[in-house]
Amino acid sequence: MADFSLPKDSYFLGFDSSTQSLKATVLDSNLNILTTELVQFDTDLPHYKTKDGVYRDPSVNGRIVSPTLMWVEALDLVLNKLANSNLDIGKIAAVSGSGQQHGSVYWKKGSSSILSTLDPKKALVDQFNDAFSVNESPVWMDSSTTAQCRELEEAVGGALELSQLTGSRGYERFTGPQIKKIFETHPEAYNNTERISLVSSFMASLLIGEYACIDESDGAGMNLMDLKKRAWSTILLEATAPGLEGKLGKIAPAHAVAGHIAPYFVDRFRFNKNCLVIQWSGDNPNSVAGLTLSTPGDLAISLGTSDTVIGITDDPQPRLEGHVFPNPVDTKGYMVMLCYKNGSLTREDVRNRYTESSWEKFAQQLCLHCL
Ligand code: XUL
Repeated sequence: MADFSLPKDSYFLGFDSSTQSLKATVLDSNLNILTTELVQFDTDLPHYKTKDGVYRDPSVNGRIVSPTLMWVEALDLVLNKLANSNLDIGKIAAVSGSGQQHGSVYWKKGSSSILSTLDPKKALVDQFNDAFSVNESPVWMDSSTTAQCRELEEAVGGALELSQLTGSRGYERFTGPQIKKIFETHPEAYNNTERISLVSSFMASLLIGEYACIDESDGAGMNLMDLKKRAWSTILLEATAPGLEGKLGKIAPAHAVAGHIAPYFVDRFRFNKNCLVIQWSGDNPNSVAGLTLSTPGDLAISLGTSDTVIGITDDPQPRLEGHVFPNPVDTKGYMVMLCYKNGSLTREDVRNRYTESSWEKFAQQLCLHCL
């Protein structure tokens, strides 16, 4: 039998590509954190002029996007920071990551050859500045696609039917309605797109130097995937935009190997050429994995920009409220999620109004009220 064991002193690199920042964390095989590096988009990459990592478009109600190239430059920067730390990058055996869910990247026709022929003497940002057919990626905060949501629901017989098929009724931030809007409002950009990635599969693509698959768990956040079959739904693809299946590529399990790290990273940052890139997934599915939720009834609450409640089930019953995604760890199981998009805004507003903008005072008040 082949021996797949790794050297005991191997390291593991995990990224968190979130709305406001890109973070890299390196662990040893005992899960001790060795190094963490962070790129905060607003302050470390001020030339993109984002606020909280996004642009809020004043001319289109609910349109919220991020400059795709900023995510590329953030990868340059965070890897430079890692390379300048004392870390031996050559010991990293595997890389994976977590992406803000639902955001989408539109690769221009011809970009696969940019990906596969990266020049290690140049920064990534200088090689990808003409790689996208849509320069501003819609992100999960966007709510400008209500019309498209209703149309996708109608295509399968209603909101409940869409939820039973895909795990969620039509949600504005989900990627299917976002793609449909791009096709309807900018058909030339859509037609000039050779591949559409989620934030998760986009970052994995940069690392392997070719298009990475969308993983099953994050893929369920698109209103396009048949949840039980873990395959694209033909009827929904057709209702969204022409030729979409070819632009989305295949779906892979969340734990699958996406490929080896591209030669670019071996030459420029001294990664080991055998370093594996594991499929990235969405931040909420990865929280299920990271918090080791494994038994039906296990629940976790995350208080982030959005507040989420996530749990495990083996008997999913998608309804009009909430979401069901495949469990990223257990290939037969599912996770359920409720998401409140403006969780931290509401919490910060209460903090600012009642506890002088101080989390300490906020916590003290909470404790007083609990007694
Ligand atoms: C989940 C959602 C948010 C983002 C935050 O559906 O939209 O939790 O994943 O990054």
